[in-house]
Amino acid sequence: MIKIAPSILSADFSRLGEDIQSVSSADYLHFDVMDGLFVPNISIGIPVLQSVRRFTDMTLDVHLMIDKPIRYIDAFFEAGADIINIHAEADTEENNLAALKKILSLGKRAAVTIKPGTPASELEKYIELCSLVLIMTVEPGFGGQKFMADMLPKLGKIRDCAEGFGLSCLLEGDGGINPMTAALAAAAGAEVLVAGSDVFGAADRAGRILALRGGKQA
Ligand code: DX5
Ligand code: ZN
Repeated sequence: MIKIAPSILSADFSRLGEDIQSVSSADYLHFDVMDGLFVPNISIGIPVLQSVRRFTDMTLDVHLMIDKPIRYIDAFFEAGADIINIHAEADTEENNLAALKKILSLGKRAAVTIKPGTPASELEKYIELCSLVLIMTVEPGFGGQKFMADMLPKLGKIRDCAEGFGLSCLLEGDGGINPMTAALAAAAGAEVLVAGSDVFGAADRAGRILALRGGKQA
């Protein structure tokens, strides 16, 4: 069964609690952090994560779209992250490895994310430390973009590579997910799908999460 991670980037922040409640049947809650440097947008950060952590027991999947994420691992851990995703492009290999080891030493799940232009081979350096790898299916920075179907072969390649190494990390896709693209991504090997605008734009969010899991048109 595909896991669904609604991204609160598309929530109404003036009623964030209610919006989180409306997606509580999902598997993870995806939390997009943007610093205006690594991506051309600024979103939410540590104080909001602290409030969300106090509000929900859902697994918090924190996607750090920030430069040199090693600087903030402790802060996001203390704020309540369960999964901490860093971008491979955000720092040197040495610093990224140190960041992943830090996340593991804190007892949390480590994950690496790659942008559409980054080859799947980049993950080889990190995959053994990861319980999840995140493949961007849009350019990071904004919700509501169109799914990049040319990322599907990349998902398949990473799935095969992880199985080849006997690794059990989950493969997550992020960006442009709706019931139709969810089916494509799942068929290509994705096991966790992030969906922002599709879930929060739906009147029946629980129904939409079910539709995304089944990959059927709602
Ligand atoms: C984009 C973010 C995504 C985004 C997905 O930079 O990482 O998580 O919120 O939004 P949708 O589902 O609208 O493409
Ligand atoms: Zn994201």
